[in-house]
Amino acid sequence: MEKIRFDYNLALRFVKQGNIDSWAERIAFCHEMLHAGTGPGSECRGWLDWPISISADEVGQIKAAASRIRQEAQAFLVVGIGGSYLGTRAAIEMLTHSFRNELPPDRRQGPRIYFAGYQLSSAHISHLLEVIDGPQISLNVISKSGTTTEPALIFGLLKAFMEEKYGPDEARRRIFATTDKERGLLRELADREGYTAFTIPDDIGGRYSVLTPVGLLPMAVAGIDIEEVLKGARAAAQDLQDPRLMENPCYQYAAVRNILYGQGYSIELLAAYEPGMHYLGEWFKQLFGESEGKSCQGIFPAAVSFTTDLHSLGQYIQEGPRNLFETVLRVKKASTKVQIDWDTAPPYLKGHTLDFVNQKALEGALLAHSEGGVPCLQIEIPEISPYYFGYLVYFFMKACAISGYLAGVNPFDQPGVEAYKRHMQDLLK
Ligand code: PA5
Repeated sequence: MEKIRFDYNLALRFVKQGNIDSWAERIAFCHEMLHAGTGPGSECRGWLDWPISISADEVGQIKAAASRIRQEAQAFLVVGIGGSYLGTRAAIEMLTHSFRNELPPDRRQGPRIYFAGYQLSSAHISHLLEVIDGPQISLNVISKSGTTTEPALIFGLLKAFMEEKYGPDEARRRIFATTDKERGLLRELADREGYTAFTIPDDIGGRYSVLTPVGLLPMAVAGIDIEEVLKGARAAAQDLQDPRLMENPCYQYAAVRNILYGQGYSIELLAAYEPGMHYLGEWFKQLFGESEGKSCQGIFPAAVSFTTDLHSLGQYIQEGPRNLFETVLRVKKASTKVQIDWDTAPPYLKGHTLDFVNQKALEGALLAHSEGGVPCLQIEIPEISPYYFGYLVYFFMKACAISGYLAGVNPFDQPGVEAYKRHMQDLLK
């Protein structure tokens, strides 16, 4: 299989190759810290070997649960927030039909999927309740701690709704919990109620958990081949374990973004040209933001959807403060071809595909932004598929861990997230 490639050629106007080379020793040191477990947060490195260590039995159980949900439910509710939500949504939006919920059941294959518990809006939950009033439903509540306010509160409401609709016994059968093996209120509840439950490994933090049952169960319900996702992640684990900087694209990415940060480029824009990759950007923001934003330091991770955001943020990117760099996700082979053959199309485009135009927009924006003083990096993905989703998220997780170590922080904790929770609890009480 082809590999995901990292290309920093366009950034060489801003970063000297010699400078990059000089980071080889630091990279080898951080590689050793990560792999030998001598760095901060070493108890949270379970994701590193997870694609290899997940058992066939566990994959089988996930697939069996998904198959039951697919048979019994017309709507599937996925309740979670942050690391217990964003990666799952990223996978489903990237790998399934753009209008999946709107497709007729025979083409959709599996229930409609709705996400909840990721905010506290009354309008959102009221509207959701209206939508799920009619269809048969199943629900997956995902929370590692089992105590996060948003999913806990919204799950309680949906549980009551399901008990009312089905009676307690049938509701119990239709609720699936993904949580800690032993700790937390959700685990207690799952054990008490007898929910089918899946475990989030102790040594895998929320934002590194997309390849665990957190992401795999909803992905399988959506009809995504989770064995392919894991296969891609395994290939990445294999390909990206070389400690030598110039042999490891993931480490090159980690090094270059840190060098740019040192030169004052403190904002990273992750740019995708596929709307289905919007939530991958949201997942990326959490992964890097929570991992690196510490001790009054860290690259601010932002994500943009092009070409639409070229018409909103394009001006700022082109001529605003020169403190941002861009990482473009470039998909080599389009999944669908739309031939430009309609009457009103400009003659010079006839015979080309819409994807060709999208690629030229990407190339044009890269040239413009580079000329405007924005260092541009590219991550090339051969195609959008479960395999490359697994590969890509592993690439980012490893780059993030190494990047955090290069910056001298613990990339696996998130002490700052607690501050708002404390204040909110005080205010509520
Ligand atoms: O990365 C993290 O740990 C957080 O973003 C959590 O994923 C998020 O707060 C949700 O936590 P939990 O899964 O415990 O409900």
